[in-house]
Amino acid sequence: MSKRLCPPRRCLRRCRYERCFPLPDPSIRPADRRVSALVGAIAESATLAVDAKAKALKAAGRPVIGFGAGEPDFPTPGYIVDAAAAACHDTRNHRYTPAGGLPELKAAIAAKTLRDSGWAVEPSQVLVTNGGKQAIFEAFATLLDPGDEVIVPAPYWTTYPESIRLANGVPVEVVADETTGYKVSLEQLEAARTERTKVLLFVSPSNPTGAVYTRAEVEAVGRWAVEHGLWVLTDEIYEHLVYGDAEFVSLPVAVPELAGKCVVVKGSPRPTR
Ligand SMILES: Cc1ncc(COP(=O)(O)O)c(C=O)c1O
Repeated sequence: MSKRLCPPRRCLRRCRYERCFPLPDPSIRPADRRVSALVGAIAESATLAVDAKAKALKAAGRPVIGFGAGEPDFPTPGYIVDAAAAACHDTRNHRYTPAGGLPELKAAIAAKTLRDSGWAVEPSQVLVTNGGKQAIFEAFATLLDPGDEVIVPAPYWTTYPESIRLANGVPVEVVADETTGYKVSLEQLEAARTERTKVLLFVSPSNPTGAVYTRAEVEAVGRWAVEHGLWVLTDEIYEHLVYGDAEFVSLPVAVPELAGKCVVVKGSPRPTR
């Protein structure tokens, strides 16, 4: 693989041009290539690798606590299992369902979004996916053209840059460290912005740092995005994991002008026990 850097030269540190825009080896005929260059360039999930290692060490009797995959330490509650089983037995569900999700589920998600984060959305604005990764990849695949840049605050959940690359975009890393509580500043965002910037990724509360932006900080980030006409993908999966004085603030609620250019990712509540 060539060692050329990405043309914008702003890509993630280990990125090479071929990682952003992978091209197939022309000396191998297409029928002999097992997967596409795009899919072949996806890095292994570091989270799942750490999780597999922790489980292997545990199985070998070592006293290991895994901080990799976020899994509950209790079984799925019985009423959820019962509802899932009842839904399987309900013959109304033995047919094709709308691709974007069951209408009742979309209405329930819209009601839950209004209740928990104060954002009023129509059920028609809701898309149901099989988990956060699918939602994030589909959002980037919908928004990005080849070479479009996405500003990614770091440290980040490892899914983000891979999803961006898979959608032919370029992740542009902005590193926040302990001196700012792992929160990026407007100056850093501005330094990372170019003519090619299309999307800002925003995650608060954050995985893996746990950083929670204050209301004033959320408003400032949102206004900066509006000022530059950027899209924002805001991952609100951890909206309920706030402790002490920290407050979850939904970006399109803090800055309503952003609503038309904002994709909000939610998930079924993470265990807080
Ligand atoms: C920041 C963040 N967003 C979203 C998700 C949810 O992804 P999925 O539903 O695919 O597990 C996770 C899961 O670890 C996450 O850490």
